[in-house]
Amino acid sequence: EVYTVTVDPLGTEVQCRADQPILDACLRAGVWLPHACTHGTCGTCKAEVTDGEVDFGEASSFALMDFEREEGKALLCCAMPRSDVTIEGDVELEQGITMHPVSDYTGTVVELSDCATDTRRLLLDLDREMAFNPGQYVSLEVPGTGQTRTYSMANVPAEPGRVELHIRRTPGGLATDNWIFKTLEVGDEIRLSGPYGRFFFRPARPEPMLMIAGGTGQAPITSIIRHALAEAEQRITLYAGGRTTEHLYNVALFRELQQRYPDRFHYRPCLSEQRAEGYAAGRVTDVLDAELDTCTGHVAYVCGPPPMVDATLKTLMRKRLFPRDIYREDFFDAR
Ligand code: FES
Repeated sequence: EVYTVTVDPLGTEVQCRADQPILDACLRAGVWLPHACTHGTCGTCKAEVTDGEVDFGEASSFALMDFEREEGKALLCCAMPRSDVTIEGDVELEQGITMHPVSDYTGTVVELSDCATDTRRLLLDLDREMAFNPGQYVSLEVPGTGQTRTYSMANVPAEPGRVELHIRRTPGGLATDNWIFKTLEVGDEIRLSGPYGRFFFRPARPEPMLMIAGGTGQAPITSIIRHALAEAEQRITLYAGGRTTEHLYNVALFRELQQRYPDRFHYRPCLSEQRAEGYAAGRVTDVLDAELDTCTGHVAYVCGPPPMVDATLKTLMRKRLFPRDIYREDFFDAR
């Protein structure tokens, strides 16, 4: 069964199957709506259903409270139509941003290598080019499970036929321990869709950029930095953290970029459990706290495990940065 979803205030009509989340139908039709996790937990895609019936799907009761359901709110990444529906969407795009429709692709593994402890770099050649904004992510189908897992792209839009992912192993993880770290091989084909997410480079903001990354949170940050250095003019400082030199990767890449762009790019690798020459000692948030008096006049992009992101946000706000100047992406490890 297929229903019509009308997206107000545009009045755009999108066709949506009864088993398809409304967000998915809209993104594939090129109607951009805000979203982050696409799995019913963050609440970013919350919108009002002003007409018609929906099935709320797997919406978490924290992200969508009972009283909100009664008020007609739904999480569009989970909600599926049960009749023709009308939604009130936050369709406005920021200045200078073009969003690209979501589509399905097939990727062939061309490289799978260990880049740090329990961390792999996966390179896929796509069957056709994917347009995206640096910082966005793709969703991979885990073969034989009916499940998907999301990973941010570390490559840049100037390489549209290729996807680079940084993947951390979760002990016992369906996608990592049982597939990507076990049976996946060069030459295998993977079905994926994308691009997703609202964590991406804001080219219209001229302020110097503070980039803060923990673990595989380096993936979208790498994409944004490489893209911005090549295509834009902002000055960029990167604080990237890991436990030891064995855990922190891309160090050579960023050192090389610092040499190539000495006036625009400053790199601060941080180790929380080891002292080593050329590295700051401490967690990223603590190093940032000690080195910057104020963050006023900056724009920050933060990506990593939720506790690290939360701690960083507190530090940035204490240093006089406001939420409108901070873009964040939480990486959950349950993969
Ligand atoms: Fe996160 Fe829908 S709840 S995007």
